[in-house]
Amino acid sequence: MNYKLNDVALIVGGTSGLGKQTAKILLDLGLNVVITGRCKQKGKNASEELGATFCQMDVGNYQSVKNCFETAGNNHLTLRIMVNCAGFSPAKRIISKGQAHDAKLFTEVINTNLLGALYCASLAAALIAKNDPIGPDQERGIIINTSSTAAFDGQVGQVAYAASKGGINAMTLPMARDLASHGIRVCTIAPGLFDTPLVSALDRKIKKSVQDQIPFPRRFGTPDEFARTVKHIVENTMLNGEIIRLDGGLRMSAN
Ligand SMILES: NC(=O)c1ccc[n+]([C@@H]2O[C@H](COP(=O)([O-])OP(=O)(O)OC[C@H]3O[C@@H](n4cnc5c(N)ncnc54)[C@H](OP(=O)(O)O)[C@@H]3O)[C@@H](O)[C@H]2O)c1
Repeated sequence: MNYKLNDVALIVGGTSGLGKQTAKILLDLGLNVVITGRCKQKGKNASEELGATFCQMDVGNYQSVKNCFETAGNNHLTLRIMVNCAGFSPAKRIISKGQAHDAKLFTEVINTNLLGALYCASLAAALIAKNDPIGPDQERGIIINTSSTAAFDGQVGQVAYAASKGGINAMTLPMARDLASHGIRVCTIAPGLFDTPLVSALDRKIKKSVQDQIPFPRRFGTPDEFARTVKHIVENTMLNGEIIRLDGGLRMSAN
């Protein structure tokens, strides 16, 4: 994509981990970057550190997402890129201690990870569709979602998480088809295990067992490797409607 200097990239969940590093790499390209998250203090710290703008948003709440996108629209910002990195991954089996899956938790995961991705993509697309087309392909912008390898081979306790991320994968192609006539591309990155605050909370034994299953390189990915994939998708106009696994060849076993 031939983005212009000062075009805006909105990184949903850009105050930490994969999103924060993505914000950094897009700022380095000369884009204006807006990062979002729920926690104001985290947002303030990250935006000051990066030189980005912070907008508070809870992706599971449509009105909150709408307010943030309306602010961008009212300020006549040219939104070109939206990357959604917001998400969380609780562990809960389909039954545990004889009890059925907590319906409230399942709903919360779907609200945040799947509906949140839909709200952000749809509101971003509505803004991007108003842009002047640019470059030889007359492109208006790009939407990048983040799923997970759990969408393909979910582990024990990942019923809700895998469902939410599988939904993101399934939305990728139809969304790209819907937006093709507007000159907007859609791609999804499906990371394996990456070294972020989300993963540092996992049990050490679980982390070691997953790491040992990665064919090569036998280590967790770095946020920079994720961010460079975003940059490549932005710059390579031929990538569209695609789900890109970024996992060192990891195909997780049942245990
Ligand atoms: N790290 C991995 O190994 C890995 C692997 C596969 C997929 N992923 C996916 O990659 C994405 C980023 O993960 P990460 O590891 O970078 O996590 P992280 O470091 O915990 O960052 C998550 C970001 O999302 C924001 N966020 C969380 N819930 C939100 C909500 N309801 N509304 C708005 N913002 C919200 C957080 O800010 P606040 O807490 O302030 O809201 C933070 O900015 C997630 O979707 C995750 O599922 C990660």
